[in-house]
Amino acid sequence: MNLYKYVSDKINKKLGFEAKLEVPKNRDFGDFSTNAAMVGAKIAGKNPRELANEYLPLLKELDFVSDVSIAGPGFINIKIKDDFILQNASAPKQMSSEKPLVIDMDYGAYNVAKSLHIGHLRTSIVGDTFNRITKFLGHKTFSWNHIGDWGKPMGLIIAWIERLHPELPYFQDDFDPEKTVDYEINEKELNTYYPLASSFAKENPEFQARAQEIKAKFQAGHPGYFALYEKFLSISLRTMNNTVQRLNILPFDYDLGERNAAKYLKDVEQILNEKHMIFENEGAQIINVKKDTDNAPMPPYMWRDSRGADTYDSTDLAAVYCRKIKDNPDKIIYFTDLRQSLHFEQLFRAADMSGIYPYEKFEHIGYGTINGKDGKPFKTRDGNAAGLDDIIDIANDAVAARVTESGKKLDEETIKIIALAAVKFNDLLHDVKSDYIFDPASITSFEGKTGPYILYTAVRLNSVLKRSNTNISKPEHFDLSIEERNLLIEIMDFEKTILSAYENRATDMIANYAYDLCQLINNFYHNCPILRDDIPEDIKAGRLYIAKLAFDTLSTAIDLMGLKIPSEM
Ligand code: ARG
Repeated sequence: MNLYKYVSDKINKKLGFEAKLEVPKNRDFGDFSTNAAMVGAKIAGKNPRELANEYLPLLKELDFVSDVSIAGPGFINIKIKDDFILQNASAPKQMSSEKPLVIDMDYGAYNVAKSLHIGHLRTSIVGDTFNRITKFLGHKTFSWNHIGDWGKPMGLIIAWIERLHPELPYFQDDFDPEKTVDYEINEKELNTYYPLASSFAKENPEFQARAQEIKAKFQAGHPGYFALYEKFLSISLRTMNNTVQRLNILPFDYDLGERNAAKYLKDVEQILNEKHMIFENEGAQIINVKKDTDNAPMPPYMWRDSRGADTYDSTDLAAVYCRKIKDNPDKIIYFTDLRQSLHFEQLFRAADMSGIYPYEKFEHIGYGTINGKDGKPFKTRDGNAAGLDDIIDIANDAVAARVTESGKKLDEETIKIIALAAVKFNDLLHDVKSDYIFDPASITSFEGKTGPYILYTAVRLNSVLKRSNTNISKPEHFDLSIEERNLLIEIMDFEKTILSAYENRATDMIANYAYDLCQLINNFYHNCPILRDDIPEDIKAGRLYIAKLAFDTLSTAIDLMGLKIPSEM
């Protein structure tokens, strides 16, 4: 049960108007507090405290209310009956939505032949959790891994391989795709090609031009370039798959990126031409997305570059067109680095102007950077920009060191689970938009607001349940201690939290909720012994029931964050 909603609805009904129900920071004086007397006083032109006094007996009549009191200028504190709490608390269940939406989510969006950078961590973690929350609330989602498999990097990589191995037949215009070529690319090496080619191109205009020419010819279907591309594409797709598994994120509904979108460019171009939206500009084709009301600069959207090649911009617009046809979504939400905000503003305008998809149904959730202690983007020990795999490796080492230090014996798989939880939980804990500092030592601590603390709480509670060996059911009556009561109320806050996390696009709410829940579980665990011999059977049964609800609620939160509970810790 969503206790907050229940109480709020009943009070509004009783008083006949909409008041605001608050959850006080300190719940000692009341589980909830309402501004009803303030609202009522405005309507009736009365003094709020006086009116609050009139409301008290009315509110007391509600069958779930045990106590009411007045605070400050006229707030009313409401305490809920213990028995009502015990009887109505329940573990979270997959919900159904009154108005289920179809939502396309674009996250992950890895790139071919470019090793995954640290930014891909946030889009994957936040995107995946947001996807899980949205599904949990009963909406239909489609996750799109908009792979970077068509643009500038392809030209650079092919040009780089041409530089390294000019003798390969791929570079000939009459390349025969039926012929097998004895050439294998090594994955590690492949990951170095793009950065090398890209910095080389900056200093060598000739190479730059060659890469652009190759890109245009590749997109036009050059058989040799395509055969070479297929080679490194398959290696990259395998790496991406490993990443998805390593991060324990849900498999993507569509692994379709720029290359797939490019198939729709003709159709989109026709639409744009009908609306006279494409302009020639210094050899390139552009779309003007500027509005008279703009204060900030709004550069044109690049439809085709001066070599006639497709662009990140054009394929992104075509991808919208494709999604509209495939999913007809009520919303399209993108999760990328904040630095792409301008690109998405342009895309949304272009899609809107062309009538392909309306501006107001788009959303871009931009996230901040992961920094080191020096406030600059996190680097590995050798001074290189850390990649996604580096981050996980570093966390793994930190967990392994801690485990050895504490004298615990945990297998490798468990250490991996804990390390991943450390990274993901810490990521989710931060407001998406803000930058945060990645400190391997603090995020892997078994105490405090960390992933390991969350998992440890779950493992310990689960072990009590496993050892109990009895059927657990709801007790008819049970006198609640303060720890038991607080824990049950928090459990009843689950639904409200997940709804706000969704509405506010704030995955940090679920992480913070999990932490608060763990604090209350641990208070309960320390103050309310369960399996000790001197505990009477009825108390044991009541506590086991509460422990079970708490475990189920925590597991759901853990699952929504894409973490796993290890069997021991
Ligand atoms: N591949 C891009 C990158 O790694 C992100 C793509 C985001 N999605 C999109 N539809 N543009 O930066």
